[in-house]
Formats: sequence, structure tokens, C-alpha cells
Amino acid sequence: MLDGLISQLYANALDQLASAETLDQVEAVRVEALGRKGKLAEISKEFGKLAPEERARIGKLLNTVKAELESKIETRKASLEAAALDARLDAEWVDLTTPAPGPRPGSLHPVTQVQQEVEDLFVSMGFTVLDGPEVETEYYNFDALNIPADHPARDMQDTFWLEDRRLLRTHTSPVQVRGLEKLGPPLKMIAPGRVFRNEEVDPSHEHTFYQLEGMMVDHDVSVAHMIYFMKTLLSAIFHREVTVRLRPGFFPFVEPGFELDIRCLICNGEGCPVCKQSGWVELMPCGLVHPAVLRYCGADPEVWNGFAFGLGLTRLAMMRYGIDDIRLFSSGDLRFLTQF
Ligand code: PHE
Repeated sequence: MLDGLISQLYANALDQLASAETLDQVEAVRVEALGRKGKLAEISKEFGKLAPEERARIGKLLNTVKAELESKIETRKASLEAAALDARLDAEWVDLTTPAPGPRPGSLHPVTQVQQEVEDLFVSMGFTVLDGPEVETEYYNFDALNIPADHPARDMQDTFWLEDRRLLRTHTSPVQVRGLEKLGPPLKMIAPGRVFRNEEVDPSHEHTFYQLEGMMVDHDVSVAHMIYFMKTLLSAIFHREVTVRLRPGFFPFVEPGFELDIRCLICNGEGCPVCKQSGWVELMPCGLVHPAVLRYCGADPEVWNGFAFGLGLTRLAMMRYGIDDIRLFSSGDLRFLTQF
């Protein structure tokens, strides 16, 4: 009778094992058949009632069935585990031979690009490129440019002062003085650089921006020379005809002084935030170097004269690339910067 139960148990367990699809299901089959309270244990309880010769035979049978089931269960477990591992490897597969994306190529800041272009142009016309300190003395930023301490023109350029009375330069004009002092006339120089103003920030004003100073000192320099260089510069930069106008302008370090405006290239004169709805953009204040400045630099104004201009490099870059908000330049925003 026990033979029948044992072979039924064996057949059942094999069936269940064949349809088990998870490790948990396999374990359930094992517990049901071989566990301490399982079917095999159940059958073993009857064992004691058997005649001795039967006992030996059934004992052997039980052991065989147990060993068989154990090994079938192990095999099934191993194959399920292997399948699970395969599935995971498939899902988490990484191709280590795929080439890495590599570093993204960088590019120069739009203001730097415009600066380098203007530098090349002036160098080709025989100008020297000079540099000056961003932290400047009151003397070079104001006094030597004919702007004494009590002069109202100081209010035009409010800036940031250091505790030792030095200041963040408000313009690149101090390099006119430093350059002429050091190199003496005749001199053709430009000086690009960063300047600072205590400004309310809006789409066309920043507290930090770039200018490019230009100066030529020689014998008999006239406004006509100045206009020639301005025009050469503008047509080279914009690669097209730009409309300009000269207005009288006041700067204590030039006489006569002018404002050179260009027709706004963003709105073509219609009016936009960059040109403050006027259709014109102030691009280059300029004029003939004031005799007082020449004297401060040790050049005799009876012998030498010259012109000077201040180009708003940041503003020029805005015009050139059609950028309508100056704050983008210092935003560090890659969506902006990678376009150049
Ligand atoms: N330095 C003046 C400014 O920043 C501009 C200027 C330069 C004017 C040279 C005349 C000549 O406002």
C-alpha cells in the first residue's frame, strides 16, 4: 500500500515541479514533499507498523525517492536562477566598447570674439594694443582726464570705491594717459577691457561691461582722421552699410567732443529695448584729445594733438549678434554661450 502512496507522491511532486515558474514555487514543492511536516514524513510514520523485511524494502524506496526529488528540485532551482540572471544581464547590459561622448568643444565668449576682431583690424592699421589695471587710481580714472574732484562730470560715472580711495575704473580712458605717459607721442593705441559702473541693471545696462579705447596722437590730427577710422571700423565689423550720425557730446577729456550713434541694427530704427525705443544706439563717444590731457601726459599740445574714442564692446556684440538683453553675457548660461 505504501508503494502506491510513495509513487503517487513522487509523480505529483514531479508534476508540480515542472509547472513551478519561480524559486518560491519550487520551494513550496520541496516543503510539501520533503519538509518536516511534509508528505514523505507523513508516510514514514507508517513505517514502524511494517514487517521487518518490508521495512527494509520500503526504507530503500523512500531513500531513493527522497534523493531523486532532492536532486530534481536542485536542478530546477539552478535552471530558474540561471534564467533570472540571464534576464538581469539582458536588462542591465552596457556596451563598454561604445565610444564615449567626449568633451564638448568650447568657444570664445561673443564679446571676446568681437574684441579680437577689432584688435586685428586696428593692429593692421598700425595701432598698438595696450592693457591697464581694472582697479585704478582716482588720478588716472578722473584727474588726469581733466575731471577734477569737484567737477560735475564725475557724477556721470558713479563707481565702486575701495577703502584706500582706489576705484574700479569706470572707463578704459585711463589707458590713454598711461599709454601716452609711457610710450610718448606719436602713438596709435587701443585698449580693450572691463569697466564698472554703479548702474541700475536693465536690458541695456550692466554694472560690468567691456569697452575699447582708441587714441591716436601725432601732428595735425583732425576730426576727418577720426571719422575715417570710425567708418573703417564699423564697416569691417558689421559687414554692411551702417547708418551713423555725429552729435555734439560732452566729455572733459576731449574738445570738441562727439557722440557717434548708429542706427539700431536690432530693430532697424523701429524702436526696441536696446535702443530705448529711439532707433539709435550710442556706440562711440569720441573727440579730439583735450590739451589739458596732453599736458598731464607730458606731451606739448602746441606740437601734438590727436583723437580718442571709446567703443562699447559689449554693446557692439549685442548689435552684431542681435542680442537684446545685456544680462545674458554674464549669465553663464550655456544655452546662450554655445550659440557662438
Ligand atoms: N570714456 C568715455 C566713457 O566711457 C568715452 C569716451 C572715450 C569719450 C574717448 C571720448 C573719448 O563714457
